[in-house]
Amino acid sequence: MTRSVDDPRRVEKSHQFDLPFTRDDFGPEFTWGVASAAFQVEGAWDEDGKRPSVWDEACLRGRVRGGRACLDGIDAYHRLDQDLDLLSALGIGAYRFSINWPRVFGDGRGPWNPAGASYYDRLIDGCLARGIEPWVTVHHWDMPMALEREGGWLRRATVDDFATFAAEVARHYGDRVKHWMVMNEPLSIVGHAFLGVHRRRSGLYPMAALATLHHLNLACAEGARRMREVLPQDAKIGVTHVFTLAWPYDRVGRGARARRAIDALLVDAFLDPAAGLGYPFAICPPLRPIRRFVVDGDEELARFDYDFVGVQYYGPVPTRPARLVGVLPRATVPSAEARVRSGVGVPVDPDGLLEVLRRYRSHPACRRFVITESGFGMNDRPGEDGRIRDDIRIWYARTHLERVLAAKREGIPVDGFFQWSWADNVEWLFGRSVRFGLVYIDYEDDFRRIPKDSYYWFRAFLGGETVASATVSEARRGR
Ligand code: NOJ
Repeated sequence: MTRSVDDPRRVEKSHQFDLPFTRDDFGPEFTWGVASAAFQVEGAWDEDGKRPSVWDEACLRGRVRGGRACLDGIDAYHRLDQDLDLLSALGIGAYRFSINWPRVFGDGRGPWNPAGASYYDRLIDGCLARGIEPWVTVHHWDMPMALEREGGWLRRATVDDFATFAAEVARHYGDRVKHWMVMNEPLSIVGHAFLGVHRRRSGLYPMAALATLHHLNLACAEGARRMREVLPQDAKIGVTHVFTLAWPYDRVGRGARARRAIDALLVDAFLDPAAGLGYPFAICPPLRPIRRFVVDGDEELARFDYDFVGVQYYGPVPTRPARLVGVLPRATVPSAEARVRSGVGVPVDPDGLLEVLRRYRSHPACRRFVITESGFGMNDRPGEDGRIRDDIRIWYARTHLERVLAAKREGIPVDGFFQWSWADNVEWLFGRSVRFGLVYIDYEDDFRRIPKDSYYWFRAFLGGETVASATVSEARRGR
């Protein structure tokens, strides 16, 4: 039976959650963290021997909203101790950040740049000194511009360049870093290739997207293998993916096949090869032309047994039935929590996170999960009193944490939760216009850091209060 998009049963389903809970309900082993990425926060884009990346170039060309100003990120490169003190006061146990490829490894193939690389030594040591565990993403989209000019991910040999870089990073920091993510959201890189984000002429490039997809699958596995060779035995190696499912989630009824094909293109096209299953051609025919880039032996090369899969979930792709193609995207997804869309246009649906975890728990590529990103982006502004009232971000966190807890109670192995992001930063093409932080960045006043209400809410929650009583005003009083 087809459910209407306004079916009240979905509303009831969402209402079944509204339980007070505390941090303790997630168990003592659960990792609580915040996340960021190099390009988005560091700045210092041409200091200490750093070479340009594709995203630096996108700022210089005005492709990123705000242009050159975004090259400064949030100036995190120059404010390391101040920022780590803020994280420490928040009460988190882990900080997830990424290594900027052209900061540590020149134009992509080395040599190692000790001046740039020492920034991460200080960052890692600074975390450890404060009892914060560093979780390192090896690659969060900052491809060296020089490699991009040679073809970037369109070029198969980039797989080897990347794996060499990944192994170097592991060799340098592996004595102190125990949790690694070889790559962040390869799907997003595929999206950039599809839209020609780093080309002179934007347009739609489907074959470039498929070449990129395949090479990224090979790069993740090869990078992870090379890291495994040099890392201590107790190191955990994962990969993160954005889990965007077609909504409604039902696997039956009109449009179900087409929705399943969307899921396969956005998610299974990465998980299946990692599990040695090849590509899901049967359920996703649009993937078939990728065969042009696959050579004998690739099925084995794309395979890697990750210790964990990082789940990054922001919301689903709402769809409606359509003739011929099965379904088409629609404007919004109804839910009890109102029809909210974030500043980057993603509709909010907390149930979707539980759906993701339930659906992929039995996938052979998913041994364990960590929520490596969850958060809400908008255009926050301080009130007249200077306070930043971001209730919607608090609500977003509560409702999504509720689903994580529900998943754990169902026995799904979810080991951690990282809030995206600890501070506002450069939201890729959106530049500074969309803010995801628990901490506000005043770009007009020397990048001043101003904790938002959500920061105080998290602090109270992480300090042991229930989500219901961790009120912002109480938390602010405890300042
Ligand atoms: C996913 C990306 O990993 C991160 O860089 C980005 O800022 C967030 N999603 C929000 O869009």
